[in-house]
Amino acid sequence: MKPTENGITMTPAILVTGGAGYVGSHTVTTLLERQSGQEFEIVVVDNLSNAYRSEGQKKPESLRIIEEITNKTIHFYELDIRDADALSKVFETHNVECVIHFAALKAVGESVEKPLEYYQANIGGTCTLMETMRKYGVFKLIYSSSCTVYGEPERLPLDEGHPTGRGLTSPYGKSKYFCEEIMKDLSISDKKWKIISLRYFNPVGAHRSGRIGEDPAGIPNNLMPFIAQVAVGRLSELKVFGNDYPTPDGTGVRDYIHVEDLAEGHVKAMKLFQQPGFSGFHAINLGTGTGYSVLEMVAAFKAASGKDIPYRIIGRRAGDIATNYSDVALSHKLLGWRAVKTLEDMCADTWRWQSKNPNGFKTS
Ligand code: UFG
Repeated sequence: MKPTENGITMTPAILVTGGAGYVGSHTVTTLLERQSGQEFEIVVVDNLSNAYRSEGQKKPESLRIIEEITNKTIHFYELDIRDADALSKVFETHNVECVIHFAALKAVGESVEKPLEYYQANIGGTCTLMETMRKYGVFKLIYSSSCTVYGEPERLPLDEGHPTGRGLTSPYGKSKYFCEEIMKDLSISDKKWKIISLRYFNPVGAHRSGRIGEDPAGIPNNLMPFIAQVAVGRLSELKVFGNDYPTPDGTGVRDYIHVEDLAEGHVKAMKLFQQPGFSGFHAINLGTGTGYSVLEMVAAFKAASGKDIPYRIIGRRAGDIATNYSDVALSHKLLGWRAVKTLEDMCADTWRWQSKNPNGFKTS
């Protein structure tokens, strides 16, 4: 049953799982920035496994700061999406219209060490979420997927018709692929489902205010937060994983996309739900279509921050590919969206966040 108050349907709500994390928090911000009044409520559920909450606070720092930036309220529930009872209560309390599903474990290396934990959290969590959605008659879902589903590229740029699931090297990557397959099966079994799987390339950057950004626990696995922590003096040098790839300077090439562009892509994707006749499973890339090498990223960050970024070339990292970048045609066509922020914006905004908050949210 949809919740109603005195027979009047309550304000529609967008449920955001994992909304306290990096991409989730930026998407919540953009959703709130895009609404003039109270067209819909934002309801975030998060188990805080990768988000910081200050002592005595109910909400994690990321959400508290978003409320300050936007002057709007976020409904927050600390829960794990595998807890079907807790999740059901959220659907009974709010008039959930659609779900944006970010909640997942995402460290590639850790997933090799802990495959069961990854499959349980990412696949088990997604299944419980979709079961609960079905129970409450909610069939609109935006899924946080990854270009990792394409595996080793057979051709570039990577278009959505490129095969998926081949040669995936980590349980993390496989979990994203398996979830997409489950969603395809589900949308075939019941035409009510409208599922959009957004395949992110490499999200970087931070909100332009510098007040929220990526705050990885421990030593960062990904390039951009690592460079940022070297620039701010938390880490001494960057280790570049190989300079013998078949790329112009020998280092890995990726399609880095500003997290605010990525967030806007989610807002545009939600509009697809309103199109008459839209149904089924749709995978859409979110990238810029341009690749930059590790050394180009280092140079751009040095220019944006004015800081030296010492680095040392070491051997390749297991499972890494030489090059990937996206074909952006489908996102232009279906979403009317394109990334507008430059590499300079990505570095400048990351630096604003990192230099204002050298220890991440803990010092905010
Ligand atoms: N790199 C370094 N040193 C580092 C970290 C990264 O040289 O300390 C290099 C990598 O070898 C790669 C590039 O920087 O060439 C980007 O590496 P990231 O770890 O930032 O990103 P990946 O492309 O490896 O991984 C990202 C996401 C994953 C996703 C994957 C899909 O983080 O979640 O894309 O390709 F699965």
